[in-house]
Amino acid sequence: MEGYRLNPLFSQEQIASVVQHLADQISKDYQGRELVLVCILKGAFMFLSDLVRHLQIPVQVDFVRLASYGSGMKTSGQIEITKDIEITLEKKDVLIIEDIIDSGRTLLFLKDRLARQKPRSIKICALLDKKARREVEMEADYLGMEVEDIFIVGYGIDFNENYRHLPEIYYVTPIDHSQG
Ligand code: IMP
Ligand code: MG
Repeated sequence: MEGYRLNPLFSQEQIASVVQHLADQISKDYQGRELVLVCILKGAFMFLSDLVRHLQIPVQVDFVRLASYGSGMKTSGQIEITKDIEITLEKKDVLIIEDIIDSGRTLLFLKDRLARQKPRSIKICALLDKKARREVEMEADYLGMEVEDIFIVGYGIDFNENYRHLPEIYYVTPIDHSQG
């Protein structure tokens, strides 16, 4: 993509150590429970796959895909499910796996919707959090790293479907053509 620069933010090593720490906490907290991880596609796929490999407890995994109207760099208020989960959540412990919390609207919508199935608990595990951009009340129960109001790509996270494959995390800035 022309006109943009990718600036390194978190290395593979930094991400691995954060994911390991989250997996340790989750393994300890959910010992002996029936845990279902609900991964929000597509952005959280890489995070989920690294996380499950480091868990020391058995889990079930399911996926949901949400569409929010409007593309580019901002989520609109309107959210809909384009691929629903298939596992029954009743009486189970649910942990939603998300890449980034921004306005908080996606997670608010999904949490309310999953709660209708009467799970035993629902919590949120997010890799990144842009707290400054919150529009509704939403906190991660397990959080990797807080980031400023910057646009992130890599490690599953995209900009118009590009850069998901990168193993590191970058932030995007426009190239300033007035400088050499
Ligand atoms: P929210 O509903 O405003 O909290 O938006 C959360 C969703 O927006 C995340 O699941 C991401 O898919 C997307 N998103 C938020 N910030 C970024 C970013 O910096 N880069 C790429 N996607 C982002
Ligand atoms: Mg997403």
